[in-house]
Amino acid sequence: MKKKIITIDGPAASGKEKISKYISKKLKFKHLDSGILYRRLAFIFLNNKVDINNLNHIKENINKIKSFSFQKSKKIRTQEISNLASKIAVYNFVRLYINKLQHDFVTKNKYFQGFVIDGRDIGSVVFKSADIKLYVKVKAEIRAKRRYKQLIDSGEKSIYPQILKEIKLRDKKDKLRKHSPLVIPKDAYIVDNNGKFNFTIKQINKIIAKI
Ligand code: DC
Repeated sequence: MKKKIITIDGPAASGKEKISKYISKKLKFKHLDSGILYRRLAFIFLNNKVDINNLNHIKENINKIKSFSFQKSKKIRTQEISNLASKIAVYNFVRLYINKLQHDFVTKNKYFQGFVIDGRDIGSVVFKSADIKLYVKVKAEIRAKRRYKQLIDSGEKSIYPQILKEIKLRDKKDKLRKHSPLVIPKDAYIVDNNGKFNFTIKQINKIIAKI
């Protein structure tokens, strides 16, 4: 039986993870957060002191990787890793490597009939023939406010204007990069996540009823 795929794209801190988890629980689909893969790779590069401005050095280090962890962890959620991840995400070589990890993940997880995968280019590039594509929209100011609260709640120091500035910068990088920029996939449903999560869920339920 063909595996079902739901893709969720959208800018940083737009609530893709919360929406993915909701769908994954409701439909018993396996969730993959592709941002983790970019963050993990950034973490490896940081530890191995890879010069991220040198593509040959990046290629050499990627070719040396023997195993790759998909685990979430606090240490890959720092601002330093966020910034580094968005810098390495501009390279096509990096993107192709991570795209393959995602396809292998779907192939290897034999016991799941469905997957919900979130990121920036999932419906537009990685899984173009997905069954349902979502694009999450939230104003930058609201995203910054939510991210600020998240960081404070998890014990990190944070300054709202700084977070807003970083979010806007990451939006710019995500939307303007040459390879796989953040776009609304042409056959995607737009999900408005500016308001209360109940309002988002109502939209989601209507859409996923079609699967
Ligand atoms: O969603 P996130 O903040 O965890 O993603 C970290 C970085 O990875 C983000 O700056 C952009 C990049 N990314 C990407 O380019 N494409 C994806 N599909 C997912 C993340």
